[in-house]
Amino acid sequence: MRVLIVGNGGREHALAWKAVASPQVEKVFVAPGNAGTMTEKHVENIPVKADDIDGLISAAISKQVDLTIVGPEAPLVDGIVDRFSEAGLPCFGPRSGPAQLEASKSFTKNFLDRHQIPTASWRSFTNAEHAREHVFAHALPLVLKADGLAAGKGVIIAHTQVDALNAIDEILVDQRFGDAGQTLVIEEFLEGVEVSFICVASGTQVIPLATSQDHKAREAGDKGPNTGGMGAFSPAPNVDPTLHKRIMDEIINPTVRGLAEEGMPYLGFLYAGLMIDPNGNPKVLEFNCRLGDPETQPILMRLQSDLIALCISAIEGRIDDFSLEWDSRYALGVVMVADGYPGDYPRGDEIHGLDQIDSPNIKVFHAGTRTEHHKILTDGGRVLCVTALGHTLIDAQKNAYRGVGSVQWPGAGWRPDIGWRAV
Ligand code: AMP
Ligand code: GLY
Repeated sequence: MRVLIVGNGGREHALAWKAVASPQVEKVFVAPGNAGTMTEKHVENIPVKADDIDGLISAAISKQVDLTIVGPEAPLVDGIVDRFSEAGLPCFGPRSGPAQLEASKSFTKNFLDRHQIPTASWRSFTNAEHAREHVFAHALPLVLKADGLAAGKGVIIAHTQVDALNAIDEILVDQRFGDAGQTLVIEEFLEGVEVSFICVASGTQVIPLATSQDHKAREAGDKGPNTGGMGAFSPAPNVDPTLHKRIMDEIINPTVRGLAEEGMPYLGFLYAGLMIDPNGNPKVLEFNCRLGDPETQPILMRLQSDLIALCISAIEGRIDDFSLEWDSRYALGVVMVADGYPGDYPRGDEIHGLDQIDSPNIKVFHAGTRTEHHKILTDGGRVLCVTALGHTLIDAQKNAYRGVGSVQWPGAGWRPDIGWRAV
C-alpha cells in the first residue's frame, strides 16, 4: 500500500513513522513534510502544502496513493475529505460538516446543549454592546472565545471586567481574528483539572486511544504564554478506569451518536479537551477534529497495533472488533522550540547532535525543520519533539531529557518539567 500523510509538524512525522512500520505499507508520502520525514526510510516528501487540496488530489492520483491521513484541522474544515471522496480517493478524517466541532465554537455549544452533553454554560454574541451587558451581569472570571479557528489564540480568560471588555473590543470591534471572530462566545469559567481524550470514531463506533496530557504554557510550572504544546506524556495517570468510563458514556459516545443522528457521521480522530471538576464530573471545553500535537508523539510511540489497519477498519466502518495493543511503558515527549517562541523567532539555525541519539527508547520527531546542503536547519517555532519510553514516568522523563541534552542550536529552548504534575 501507498499512504499519503498531509501536514508538516511533529504529529505528521509520528504518523509517517508509524505508517511506514505497517507490514502492509510499501511507501509513505508526506505533503509537505519536514527534514525528519525526509530522512525516514521508505518515506518521501512531496512539495505540496497542506491547504492545497487540488494539489493534494493530483499528487494522490499520480503517486497511486491508497490511503490519505490528514494531520491538521484547516484542510479538514475546508472539506479535503469531501473532495477526496468525490475523486474516489480513500481519506481518513472527518468531512467538513462534522469538522465544525473544531471550526465553530457556537456550533459545538449548540450541539452539546441539544444532546445534553455537559459543558460550561454560554451565550454567543455578534453585537459588542450586548456582550458588554452580559459581562456586567455575570460573575468573573469569564471565558471569551472567538467562534472560529484562531490558531489557539482566540480564547481569553478574563479575571477583571477590563480584561473582558478589552477582549470584546479585540474580537468583535477590532476584528483581530477576522472572520473567525464574527461571533463571540462568552462562557462560564470551569475549575478543575484538564484532560485530553483522543479516540478514533467511525459512525457510531468509537475506539479510544491511550490517554495523554499536554503542557500548553511556555514556561516551567505552567507559567507564561500559551503555546501549541511544549510537551506531553502517555498514559495520563489521572484518568482512572472510573473516569475513563464516564468520559466514554457521558461525552464521547453521545457526541458521535448525536452527530450520526444529525446526518453528520464522524470518521477520523476526535480529540476532546475536557475539564474534570472537583467532584470528578467531566465537561467539554472544546473538540478538535484531529490528533493533538504533541500528544500524538508519545501516543504513537506506545501504539503496538497497525495504525494503517486501524484507519482502514474505520473507513470501512468496522472498528468495533478492532482492539488496540499498547506498550505498557510510559512515553514522554519534550518539545524543543526556537528562541522567542510563541512570539517571533529566527529560522535557519543549524541543528547539531541529532546523530548522537541512538537509543531505541528515544525518538526525535521533527516539526519546524528543513534541509539545506545536507544540513538540518530550524524552520519553525516548535522545532523538535524528543520522545522517549521508560518503565516509569520518571524513567521516560529522564530518557527524553537525555535526548534533549544531545541536541543543540543557538537559542534552543524547552521546558525542564514536562510531566511534573504526574511524577
Ligand atoms: P479551548 O481552545 O476552547 O480549549 O480553550 C483553550 C484553553 O482555555 C483550554 O485548554 C483551557 O485551559 C482554557 N479554557 C477554555 N474554556 C474554559 C472554561 N470554560 N473554563 C476554564 N478554562 C477554559
Ligand atoms: N496540544 C494541543 C492541540 O493539539 O490542540
